Amino acid sequence: MRRIAIAVAAPTLTFSLAACGALDGSGSVGDASPTKGNDLTVGLLLPETDNTRYEKFDYPIIKEKVAELTGKQGKVEYANAEADASRQAGQMQRMIDNKVDVILLDAVDSHAIADTVQKAKDAGIPVIAYDRLSEGPIDAYISFDNELVGEVQGRSLIEALGSKAGPSDKIVMMNGSPTDPNAKQFKEGALSQLSGKVTIAKSYDTKDWKAENAQANMAQALAQLGKDNIAAVYSANDGMAAGVIKAYKDEGFTDLPVITGQDAELDAVQRIVTGEQYMSVYKSYPTEAETAAQMAVAKVQGKDIQFDSLTRDRVSSPTHKNIPAQLVSVVALTQKNIKGTVVTDKIYKVDDICTPKYLASCRAIGLVK
Ligand code: GAL
Repeated sequence: MRRIAIAVAAPTLTFSLAACGALDGSGSVGDASPTKGNDLTVGLLLPETDNTRYEKFDYPIIKEKVAELTGKQGKVEYANAEADASRQAGQMQRMIDNKVDVILLDAVDSHAIADTVQKAKDAGIPVIAYDRLSEGPIDAYISFDNELVGEVQGRSLIEALGSKAGPSDKIVMMNGSPTDPNAKQFKEGALSQLSGKVTIAKSYDTKDWKAENAQANMAQALAQLGKDNIAAVYSANDGMAAGVIKAYKDEGFTDLPVITGQDAELDAVQRIVTGEQYMSVYKSYPTEAETAAQMAVAKVQGKDIQFDSLTRDRVSSPTHKNIPAQLVSVVALTQKNIKGTVVTDKIYKVDDICTPKYLASCRAIGLVK
């Protein structure tokens, strides 16, 4: 295995050294057999369960792809931190102790986890940051174009306000968790579209991305600004959009403003069908998750040319520059393109969306006949 890694890696020395480290760290060099290359373990650390994407898409897709790439011999050791940064550090330490071959890390707190990333590195285990750019010596990063996510949200919000939009329109911003670097990028992307066009009357960072925290903040914004003075709510994701809507409904307000989201959660798609939520951002989870699995397996198996071709972008974290990366594109999801996005990509069937409760609205927008 070591010989193969070195031979393949000759043109790209940096990667070959890292790959050799991986094998040393896995403890698999000494007992390498001709099939050892497929008998690998990918550690997968996901941040939370409130948003359904992680357990519904990211984990199962990665697991399946790793199995496919390794003739069903490769395993995924999975842990979810339930939004608890110290729990995640413990989970990652356990994976280091278990000598997994590579770690895919979606950090709860990208700064706090850096020490544990260093420990993995010291143990010769490569770390690939998944979805959120972790600090510390990571080997690569796979995510969506997160700045674009924010731009798409901001642009859609302005479009939805239409010709009425003007600087006198007050907007409330529900941003994501301050420990998630994506949240900052979503916010920056959105502000690039919103600034100067509307007034940001209130802006909240939402602890742990939790819907109930967004709901509490929205209740406060409603009390302070008054419902008729809020033209739109920028919600960074769908879970928080649900919290925002709850805050309106708790006050007995039924006419909702323009509300954005992200993640194409099933209940958000249904809210888009009825018009309660204006848009979400559709991110192709299969593309991100399958690419992550390919990167992880290529890294362990020392397939450096393939690894390089999967990571042609470059990003910088607060601690490291020029990190090999792949940033996947995203699109706005509105009433107009439900079929062309989540249905075409087999994320949901029309029947999942258009349950009896939503049938009339589905008909009205032409999703069903
Ligand atoms: C972000 C992620 C989003 C969303 C959010 C809440 O980092 O990119 O897709 O899930 O976290 O967990």
